[in-house]
Amino acid sequence: MRDERPVSYDEERRAWDVFKYDAVRTVLSDYETFSSDTPPDDDSGADDSSPLSASMISVDPPEHERLRQFVDDRFQPDAIRDRRPYIETVAESLLDDIEGETFDIVSAYSFPLPVIVIAELLDIPAERRDEFKQWSDALVAAPREQTEETLRKNEQHRTQSIAEMSSFFRNALTERRGSDRDDLVTLAANAEALSPTEQLGFCILLLIAGNITTTNLITNAIWSFAEQDILHAVASGAVDRKQAIEEALRFRSPVQAMSRVATEDTEIDGVEIAADERVTAWIGSANRDESVFDNPDEFLPERSPNRHIAFGTGVHYCLGAPLARLEAGVALSTLFDRYDTIELRDDQFQPVSSPIVYGLESLPLH
Ligand code: HEM
Repeated sequence: MRDERPVSYDEERRAWDVFKYDAVRTVLSDYETFSSDTPPDDDSGADDSSPLSASMISVDPPEHERLRQFVDDRFQPDAIRDRRPYIETVAESLLDDIEGETFDIVSAYSFPLPVIVIAELLDIPAERRDEFKQWSDALVAAPREQTEETLRKNEQHRTQSIAEMSSFFRNALTERRGSDRDDLVTLAANAEALSPTEQLGFCILLLIAGNITTTNLITNAIWSFAEQDILHAVASGAVDRKQAIEEALRFRSPVQAMSRVATEDTEIDGVEIAADERVTAWIGSANRDESVFDNPDEFLPERSPNRHIAFGTGVHYCLGAPLARLEAGVALSTLFDRYDTIELRDDQFQPVSSPIVYGLESLPLH
């Protein structure tokens, strides 16, 4: 695709697809030409009233700064580093709960770990994590068979999940407004620069962005290391763990694509794009671009430099990147300390059912 049609139009989705590294970076970072304030899919029946459309991820500068600035400090690497002991305790206790020789690492470990961590930051009950997962999944899911009926059901499920999340967080925000608690819901509730809908959009965004993505990073890293037969090399330190995680981010990018809308007539790689047309920037493809990465389809655990853009680029660069990296590092080192011989149980995998999320529903190990 990158060679033959680096920019191509998808009639069904009525969107331009952009595949090459430089062009993907431009689409993600040039907010004046490619806005994050994208309209809902024409056929989805969705409306623009989702609180997420009032969150930082859907808003361009200068408004974007107002929606991100109040929380930026909390996610800086120094602030996030303080969470390490807590994340280690969570990882240890999840591994304590694993029974039997064979287990699914996704349901036992890579799914609950990030949800429990983000629930603690928001100070919401981690026991409700199955519900949080259903809500999050509904927002990124797409039916495997796309008929009118499955699309309608998918949209219904999405709308219902947004309604449930909204009611949950609206109550929490109301309860905590004016309080001196130290969690992110309280931070949002007391952020005077934000309207109530923006406060709600922030809470929903964090809950969703903070879990599915990191779950898939942990899963994809274990999957890639096992497939490459380097689990023990990473565990013993013979292969640098941090670099190997960066390569997992590049090789199996948990977020495959992000959307924008053209604000004016423009051109990408010689292809004309009209104002108001949708543009999908394929991060997963950019991270395999042969003009940037040598042997891009090979997993090279100590690839250096590794200029992947799995966390995006520009003003919308992932707020949670330091947290995701810390969680993945702790998850892997705790797992390796506990098990010195882990292997993939089989090689048939069920991918996550979403066009933009890359990961596995389950990954049996023994
Ligand atoms: C933005 C990926 C983990 C919160 C983004 C973007 C990407 C991304 C590609 C850019 C979106 C765009 O340009 O439109 C990932 C990946 C993760 C991860 C691959 C894990 C491996 C997290 C975590 C959190 C988080 C753990 C929070 C706890 C956010 C937020 C934004 C964002 C709030 C919006 C930033 C903005 O619009 O300014 N993420 N993310 N992410 N991410 Fe992450």
